[in-house]
Formats: sequence, C-alpha cells, structure tokens
Amino acid sequence: LLSLAVFSTFLSACSDEDAPGGGSGAGGDGNRLRIPAPATSTIDPDGARRFALTLRADGRSGFFPGKVTETWGINGDYLGPVVRAKRGEKVRMAVTNRLPEASTLHWHGMRLPARMDGGPHQMIEPGATWTPEWTIDQPAATGWFHPHPHEKTAMHVYRGLAGLFLIDDPDGPELPDEYGVDDIPLIVQDKVFDGADLATGGVDSGTFGLLGDTILVNGTYRPFHQVGAELVRFRLLNASNARVYRIGFADGRRFDVVAGDQGMLERPATADRVKISPGERVEIVVRFAPGETVVMNSVGEPRKQANDIEEDDFDLVRFTAAATLEPAVKLPAALGGPAGETPPPGARVRRFELSGSEINGRDMEMSRIDEVVAAGAVEIWEIDNTTYAHNFHIHEVAFRILDVNGQPPPAYQAGPKDTVFIPKKAKVRLLVRFGPYTDPVTPYMYHCHLLRHEDKGMMGQFVVVEPGTEQLVPRTIPAGH
Ligand code: C2O
Ligand code: CU
Repeated sequence: LLSLAVFSTFLSACSDEDAPGGGSGAGGDGNRLRIPAPATSTIDPDGARRFALTLRADGRSGFFPGKVTETWGINGDYLGPVVRAKRGEKVRMAVTNRLPEASTLHWHGMRLPARMDGGPHQMIEPGATWTPEWTIDQPAATGWFHPHPHEKTAMHVYRGLAGLFLIDDPDGPELPDEYGVDDIPLIVQDKVFDGADLATGGVDSGTFGLLGDTILVNGTYRPFHQVGAELVRFRLLNASNARVYRIGFADGRRFDVVAGDQGMLERPATADRVKISPGERVEIVVRFAPGETVVMNSVGEPRKQANDIEEDDFDLVRFTAAATLEPAVKLPAALGGPAGETPPPGARVRRFELSGSEINGRDMEMSRIDEVVAAGAVEIWEIDNTTYAHNFHIHEVAFRILDVNGQPPPAYQAGPKDTVFIPKKAKVRLLVRFGPYTDPVTPYMYHCHLLRHEDKGMMGQFVVVEPGTEQLVPRTIPAGH
C-alpha cells in the first residue's frame, strides 16, 4: 500500500483535472456529481412493469481523471440505474448474473413475499437469470437494492453493486419531485484506493470491516453540483459497508426532513444534522439562496464518545446555486405519513442480544428458522447491544423506534423505518408491523447492516405464517429447498 503522504499527493494531483465525462467546476476543483440514470422499463401485456438488471464484474470507472478503476456495476460500470415504480403497480424483474460467482439481488425496504426478497435463499448462479415479480403495496419511499449472498455481501456491495428503488405514490404530498433537478439522490460510500485501484484489503477483516478515507457520492469523487431551485430535495442513502454519517451543511443551516427509510414522516422535522447508518435512507428538503456556495458534509461524533465508524469528518458535495432559482412551492404542513403509535396492549415482546458478531449467542444458520411470526402481527422487538456499535435491519417490515436507552428518537427518526442504528451498549425498542405474505418455509432476514458483521453471521431468519399456525412450523428448512 502507498504511504498516506504519497496517497494524498496522488489524490490532490488528480483533483486539478476533470474526470472523464465530468465538467470542470470553479478552478477545476472536483468533478460534476453523477446522477444515476433512470432504469428503462417496458409494460408487459398484463400491465406489469418489466425491468432488466444485469450484475456485471467488468466495470471500468473513471473516478480519477485519466485513470481507470475496475469496478462492479448493475447495467453499467458502477452502482445501478434508478428503478422507479408506482404504488399499486405490478413489477416484473429479470436479474441476470454476469459475475464470476453466485450472488443475489435484495430489494431493501420492499414489502413483498419472501421468495421475491432476494435474500441468501434466492441465489443466482453465474449466467442465470432470476425473475421475481410482485405488486407494489406500500407508501412512497426511497428503497434500494444490493446483493445479499451469504457471507459475501460486503465484497459485492463494496465493489459497486447497489442501486436505488424509488416508489412513487400519486396521492403523496406535493414535494420537489423533478428527478435530477430538484429531487436528487445522494448515495454516500466510503472507499480506500490504492492508486486508482479500489483496495479491498479490509473488507473482510477487522472489527468493522473496511472504513474508507475517501468518499464517493453517486460514484463521484469530490463532487460538485449546481442547483437551480430554491428548494431541493435530497434522497440520502448510506450504502457504505460500515460508516455512520452525521450529514448537514458546513454553514450549519437547518433543513426539513420529510421522509425516512419507509416513507413520509407525519410532518416535516427540522434538523441541522441527520445521522444515517449503513442501509438507512433520509429525505431532506434544503433551501438555497441565489448565487451561494455551500458544502454538504458529515461531522463525526466526538472521539472517545463514539466508535471508529462514527467519528470522522468528510466533505460530501459542494453545492453552488444558480444566480436565479426556480421559486419553491411551500412545504406541506402534513406529509401524509402515519402518526406515532403506542404498542397495542399485550403486544408480544421478542428480545435480541447483540454481541460482537452474534445475535442471541448464535451465528446465522441457513437451515435454521430463528423466529416464527404471525402475518399482520404488531410486536415489540427489544434489542440489547452488549458491545460496540451495530445497526439492525429487518426485511419486509416497517417499524417505529419506540426508544433508545429509554429516550424517544429525534423527530426526524420517528417515522416508519426498516433499519436503525444501535449505539454501543444501547438498548433499543422497536414497534414492528409485519406484512401479510405468508410462507412457512422461506425466511426473511434480520441482521446487522454493517456488512462485515452480516457476513460473519450476525443475522437471523424469520418466517411469517398464518396466525394460529405458529406452533406447526418446522424450525429447520427442508434440505433442497
Ligand atoms: Cu440491505 Cu438484508 O439488507
Ligand atoms: Cu454489527
């Protein structure tokens, strides 16, 4: 590996030039923010919207001017296109694996039958195509997709396999929604480069796996972007392997948070920083003044109070506002998201103890069903973290954070979510609402979304079954399934 001094000289040397395909900013400082292209789709005779996604290992990315970085991508060199569908629509996917090894594609945040989920039980062999389909039956949200092969997720995501899945709701609130203009996705990832090469050394080792010193946003190194509207909505996705960001602006301006993982808040929540751990999404609406420049950044928690994954500072994107800006619509006072709820009396409580890389003292076992849940159940999941920081993601549900160490979450995290940060030694209680899709054999996953931990086995499996049949369900998945 290059020494740090040589490494940073290399980085500053290449920032003086343009990236291939990028424009030059003021003084050639940085690269034009890439905006992931919308995925193309066709409509089948039955009305289903059809997408084709191909996992590729032959990406050649131009993060640094004049240099090629070998990456993986979905329908492209790095990351994937933006899949977009409306509530009520049927979607039909063709996911083709052109990688040299088996993988999957998981729809993170999607409410759907377990066989369509793209978890470790829906492996796609090299050369094969997987064709899940389902009807979108959930509120508007910013979802995403990424591979989920047992013990290999960290490397597949790190190399570049991830993309956004936007769910639209025609009955949703009036918010900035012109894609790439006043509605801009920001996929935040940390990387380590060895020259122009993506260094993969730490991905499968260490306490947290890889923690990068270099940020890519939408696969752009040192991005800048010019905005043309007074109010701009940013859809933030933390697609990093382990890093936690506290995102805001260098000038400390406040902004409105309108949505979290599973869609709209009840009403906008103002904030000057939002904390976002791997897998989480936050949608914010930011006001710009004509002609100004402001940097979106991440400011870490103070050292000694935090873990390594929370404490570093990064610049994310430098925004410049045009001299004249599109006037803004007023933000609606109510966003249509659900009001806060209290647990129904007698709600079942399940307890999960997180240690270094185990849940309830056990590693993930592909053939073991850990939990059996009745369809439509509303339960309290109590997560007790006995060690350093983790997070917790549950497939196919929307949950609310009831409390963290007995305290309610900040307003911007009070809406429906599917992934939650669990600070070190913290106890978090979630109110979890399970979906309607029953399958006594095919499990959904719950796991730490720090990908090194997930790969090490910090994951469990649950099935959702007809209410009243919980006791009849085999706890071992039949061989060959
Ligand atoms: Cu984003 Cu089980 O994963
Ligand atoms: Cu973890």
